[in-house]
Amino acid sequence: MGKSIRIGLFGLGTVGSGLVNIIERRKQRLMQSAGIELSVVKAVVRNPTKKRSCETEGIHVSTSYESILEDKEIDIVVELIGGTEDAYRIVRRSLESGRPVVSANKALLAEHGQELTTLARTHNQAFFAEAAVGGGMPILKTLRESMVANRITSLAAIINGTTNFILTKMAEEGLSYYEALKLAGEMGFAEADPTLDVEGIDAQQKLRILAAHILGGTYPKGEILCEGITRLDEHDFTFAKKHNYAIKLLALAQRFENDIELRVHPTLISKLHPLASVRNEFNAVFLNGDAVGEIMLAGRGAGSFPTASAVYADIVDICTRTQNPSAEPEISQEALNIVHPMEVTSEYYICFTIDDKPGIIGEIATILGKHKISVSSITAELIPNAEDLGRLDIIVHQSKEKAIRDAVREVAELPRVHGEGKFIRIQRGLS
Ligand code: HSE
Repeated sequence: MGKSIRIGLFGLGTVGSGLVNIIERRKQRLMQSAGIELSVVKAVVRNPTKKRSCETEGIHVSTSYESILEDKEIDIVVELIGGTEDAYRIVRRSLESGRPVVSANKALLAEHGQELTTLARTHNQAFFAEAAVGGGMPILKTLRESMVANRITSLAAIINGTTNFILTKMAEEGLSYYEALKLAGEMGFAEADPTLDVEGIDAQQKLRILAAHILGGTYPKGEILCEGITRLDEHDFTFAKKHNYAIKLLALAQRFENDIELRVHPTLISKLHPLASVRNEFNAVFLNGDAVGEIMLAGRGAGSFPTASAVYADIVDICTRTQNPSAEPEISQEALNIVHPMEVTSEYYICFTIDDKPGIIGEIATILGKHKISVSSITAELIPNAEDLGRLDIIVHQSKEKAIRDAVREVAELPRVHGEGKFIRIQRGLS
């Protein structure tokens, strides 16, 4: 007879039922390899009569938080209900009562990660949340443990499956943004409110967690430039294709001597970069460490079994630890300034719709020059079937975000320019 470990599970939805299925599937193997008998004994759900995608026989299912929090026989608490309020209280109380916690909650980790990790340490307990970033792709443990020899100098990541799926469908199948969004919703990996996905907020939360794992500390959302994919259209993909770029929603962290830039936005990257080949709902993180050089992890960033795979690994990690359960290489906070979102620099592709009349290019170039923006190339072409309307594609050298925004706003006010104009950042060297 092995050691019995009893799990109290908050949430029996997509990830929770995936976890119950994986525990069942791996039962024998875990007993053989570690002598551990793992079982979910209690689950707390919002609707106890709802049909589940796993066997619930033997699990006491209720709506009472206290049924788990007050049960001294529960060895590990697993929080999969999402949100930050109830989840925060559940994690705090569990740690305070001397129980380790596994979570998949990115919002909770982004807002309270450092506080809860410190609390866990104080109570000599583990608090793990590998599934919060990248689903089944084990990036947090990689940063915490496998990369301890390294100072991470840069990170570029595709960490939202929904948007990567939408961008893949727009690029490869010519779907419109709305067609691709509808399809993504049907696939089931979007958030309950897909605005969080398409506006880049989900990726921003995950970047805040990654930054905390690289540099220590916490990262308020106001300090991270965040732009989603809702303004991308067919012309952007035509431009990208013509110039051998892919368009990806990237989360970027770039370290300079005393500063760090953190940003999330649609990005033009070379089609030859490994991140360009990450398709559909897959996630990937491309890292540069000063000892190891470049490495890339890729995997399914969402879905029942991939996410539950990371939750299960955290549980087994806790069960099999022989040393101090909260012992993790502590990430001491580095004294780096976060570059203000309006001060970050990049190359940009800018696009305007114009009246195709002499002199307009000169007027636009003058405004760009006034904002100290140096042009690398300009191409103008007539828009088919739109009388005298043209499109101007401009690529500019490294410029500041604020200068680009101010210049684009000023150009858009010219009488012979139509619409707001738009820009996409270009990332050349990602290493
Ligand atoms: N909505 C998220 C995504 C789910 O699409 O990546 C995983 O966090």
